[in-house]
Amino acid sequence: MPTIVVIGTQWGDEGKGKIVDYLAEQADAVCRYQGGNNAGHTVIAAGKVHKLHLLPSGILYPGCICVIGNDVVVDPAVLLQEMAEMKAQGGEVSGLRISSRAHVIMPYHRLLDKLIEQSKGDKKVGTTGRGIGPCYEDKIRRVGIRFASLMDPESFAEDLRLNLRMKNEVLTKVYGESPLDFDQIYNEYLGYAEQLRPYVTETSRLVNQMVRDGKKVLFEGAQATMLDIDFGTYPYVTSSHPIAAGACIGTGIGPHSIGKVVGVAKAYSTRVGEGPFPTELRDATGDAIREAGHEYGVTTGRPRRCGWLDAVVLRYAVEVSGVDCFALTRVDILDQMPTLKICTAYRIDGKVVTDYPANLRDLAKAEPIYEEMPGWQCKTFGLTHYEDLPENCRRYVERIEAITGCRAGIVSVGPDRHQTIVRESMF
Ligand code: GDP
Ligand code: IMO
Ligand code: MG
Repeated sequence: MPTIVVIGTQWGDEGKGKIVDYLAEQADAVCRYQGGNNAGHTVIAAGKVHKLHLLPSGILYPGCICVIGNDVVVDPAVLLQEMAEMKAQGGEVSGLRISSRAHVIMPYHRLLDKLIEQSKGDKKVGTTGRGIGPCYEDKIRRVGIRFASLMDPESFAEDLRLNLRMKNEVLTKVYGESPLDFDQIYNEYLGYAEQLRPYVTETSRLVNQMVRDGKKVLFEGAQATMLDIDFGTYPYVTSSHPIAAGACIGTGIGPHSIGKVVGVAKAYSTRVGEGPFPTELRDATGDAIREAGHEYGVTTGRPRRCGWLDAVVLRYAVEVSGVDCFALTRVDILDQMPTLKICTAYRIDGKVVTDYPANLRDLAKAEPIYEEMPGWQCKTFGLTHYEDLPENCRRYVERIEAITGCRAGIVSVGPDRHQTIVRESMF
């Protein structure tokens, strides 16, 4: 079945956008299945850099259907802005389809995101502040506002009134904020509704029909395994399911409709925001990786925490998503490193641990056990054939494969579409 789920295997920013864009050249549809504009996916095409937050990374191919699935939380103002930018750059958005079941991020979600973070003090998650968590909270609380409601002024008025009654109580009594005004939000959002109406539809039926017709469909994960609400480093996670199973929940396909799972893995590790990161390098080597890789967040501009590759994390990601192969990215960023380290296990209270622990206290004590390898110290940037990679680079790739038991089907050595080594056909 020519369907592929592309997931992040680490803490996000692995290069999912680049890999999805690369694969999208052959695809009939690309479907985002969770998250919202907390995601920042960079796609470089024809020399132009596109920073995508909500538009699926297939949008640069005219004719590709781009679905925003039901488990995506959508800030309509951000989506409209992104659509406008895409059109201004000569692109088109006529292939966009938004699920009528997707939830809408409201102004009180963004406000509460910030207030909740502030009230947590040094226990803050370090969220992107985009209202993601509060919007998913409302979905689970069964008071969220979906596109189906937004499209119907009467339902929307009813839903908004109920929400403002509840939210204004919390905003004024708990946080000492001013109450939000119904008319202002209602009119603002009705304006968005009119602009987005042509794109809103029953996407689950559309996606299932494409799968049945044998079309090539990509499912684009945002965030990553270690930010998954269940499998990540809880509570330092996002509020959705980035793992492969999220593609089923987030678009309405059955598990048998997934043909292949590609796990995007950066050749080293980064994390943005708070939470455990056993292989973090808080030293000159970490700084060298950050500068070589320009590791600053696409969405918030924050410097990313950098560290060595953690194969415990990769093995875990392979397991929980059933990853068939890796797309190993940013290998070129390591070109000048004299030595490299791969973490194969942790030592916790004197014991060797090879499974990712659930308990944050254990993780805080985890000392990485490393294998050291010589670097290659020459340029891999832009190469397109695996055999052309320097021997030590191939050794690094093959060692990762051996430790994780998962093949690197794609090796990426540059941000551009063409700077990609493909070792097996994907569709
Ligand atoms: P995403 O959130 O997983 O889509 O990743 P981001 O776009 O946030 O961050 C990945 C960054 O790496 C982007 O700037 C990409 O353009 C860039 N990138 C992706 N693959 C490669 C690669 O193989 N080499 C280099 N040098 N950059 C890459
Ligand atoms: P892409 O798709 C990296 C992190 C935030 C924070 C935590 C929760 O570009 O890989 P949230 O705003 O989701 O409630 O924040 O998750 N985070 C990301 N980190 N890449 C992302 O997306 C992220 N999206 C959220 O920094 O630690
Ligand atoms: Mg990103």
